[in-house]
Amino acid sequence: MAKRELPARLLELLGKDREHYHSGEELSAQLGVTRTAVWKAMGRLREQGYRIDSVTRRGYRLAGLPDGLTAELLAQYLPAGRGKTVFCYGELDSTNIRCQQMALEGAATGTVVVADRQTRGSGRLGRSFASPGGCGVYLSYLLRPECPPDALSLLTSYAGLAVCEVLEQYGLSPRIKWPNDIIIDRRKVCGILTKLTGDAESGTINGAVIGIGINVTQQRQDFPEELRDKAISLREAGAEVPRAALAAAVIDRLDECFLRQQLLSRPAAPVIEQLTRRSCTVGSRVEVITPTGQYEAKAVGIAPDAGLIVQLPDGTRRTVSSGEVSVRGLLGYT
Ligand code: BTN
Repeated sequence: MAKRELPARLLELLGKDREHYHSGEELSAQLGVTRTAVWKAMGRLREQGYRIDSVTRRGYRLAGLPDGLTAELLAQYLPAGRGKTVFCYGELDSTNIRCQQMALEGAATGTVVVADRQTRGSGRLGRSFASPGGCGVYLSYLLRPECPPDALSLLTSYAGLAVCEVLEQYGLSPRIKWPNDIIIDRRKVCGILTKLTGDAESGTINGAVIGIGINVTQQRQDFPEELRDKAISLREAGAEVPRAALAAAVIDRLDECFLRQQLLSRPAAPVIEQLTRRSCTVGSRVEVITPTGQYEAKAVGIAPDAGLIVQLPDGTRRTVSSGEVSVRGLLGYT
């Protein structure tokens, strides 16, 4: 076994049973190396921030994980075997770009790209998405085959619900600002950007990349000045969440929607109801900004395709789609 593989294998063994102590003898026999090699590998894991308790005559126990976003850490939180299709990077231009490249190279549905930091994180409408290292989760999830272009807004909505459900498990009460922002205390904690992949020449679409960025441990001064009134992190909202645990929970929830329940091929009615319940846009006065002009309206509901139903001052209603327009809340960031 290569020297650098030993800490990962050791971690796998300790992680399988974190309740009990594992003797040095048992570990060295299972790994086929000397006890000294086990001891050295243990030291390397501790250097990386893993907390490993050691008790004389009982052995070693994995007591705590560092807050990183490595493949080894994610594997500790994901169901066994799932980690194989999750690719972790320290730095990328954008996980969406990398994931789109992987799609073109033939990557399968459920492939995930995670980065600790992005240098060109992108958001909707050509905006950038601030993605500093060590404090957020930036991930892209690939879905294929055949995704009809009109599924785009539903995909984003499913992903938004998935993120909300995960955050609710941590005791938070997130809301969805239509179409793709997750809000806590009227500030944005997460943005979602879905991109279709395919062959531009033939116009065939063969997949979709759902990109999710979550602010996790930033404090006020860590956000760029222009975002300080608009952004919030989970830490500021009162939740201390290891980033790998959060990423794994989101990936697992997306797997549940798209792989296990195959939600895209089912009627969307219950999803629309959940989206409406969590929406902070429905019920608000909004400004609808189209390429040709803008108008004021009241957001009154979410349509079956996840578009926003708005009512104009003369009482007529229309559905606007996320690709076409931008919606700005007239009363604060809703
Ligand atoms: C938005 O707020 O308009 C959407 C932001 C989406 C950001 C995520 S971070 C992971 C993925 N990679 C990107 O470059 N963008 C998305």
